[in-house]
Amino acid sequence: MRIPALLCVLVIPCLLAFAEDKPNATCPVTGRAVDPTVTAVYEGRTYAFADAAARGLWTAAREKSLYHRLGGKPAIEAAVDAFYVRVLADARIRDFFENINMNKQRRKQKEFLSAAFGGPEPWTGKDMRAAHSELELKEEHFNAVAENLQKTLEELKVSKELVGEVMSVAASTKDAVLNRR
Ligand code: HEM
Repeated sequence: MRIPALLCVLVIPCLLAFAEDKPNATCPVTGRAVDPTVTAVYEGRTYAFADAAARGLWTAAREKSLYHRLGGKPAIEAAVDAFYVRVLADARIRDFFENINMNKQRRKQKEFLSAAFGGPEPWTGKDMRAAHSELELKEEHFNAVAENLQKTLEELKVSKELVGEVMSVAASTKDAVLNRR
């Protein structure tokens, strides 16, 4: 018997949401096993810690992170979406993305930047050198990407100070992205 489509639409997202909210078994601060009664909720997700001190350190780090100050998940997702609209319209660099699955690329970039800005989830993809080593990128390509990122943030009315912090994070990837030592 086939499962009715409506049931899939209603039930599967609930099951996924439940699975996602299962707290972590390893403390993200100490690396030790968690005490399941010591938890914090961040952006709707529950995180567990080894003890209250670890939870305090983690919560303080979240609150002062660039990720949090930019507006967290929705702000970063909106910025990455707007950034790739610019990149794909930019004749200096758009050809690099011709055969790239852009849904996947947007998802990866959101995860990478979120982690680089101090978000709660780790980056699980390639390191920046491995991700770009086949592309033979030049300084002008990196600068065009950086310019698009800066213009995106300015268009979204992100403060000058935060734009500066984002651009520093982007600049820290330059040698790896350009495969330089
Ligand atoms: C601030 C600098 C940059 C950052 C932070 C960045 C970040 C990323 C990330 C997170 C990925 C996905 C890696 C993975 O698959 O695990 C990626 C892939 C890619 N990036 Fe970049 N990137 C930067 C600069 C550039 C530049 C300058 C170009 C070209 C103009 C470029 C073109 C690409 C392409 C084409 C891919 C897909 C490669 C593939 O799937 O084979 N990136 N980048």
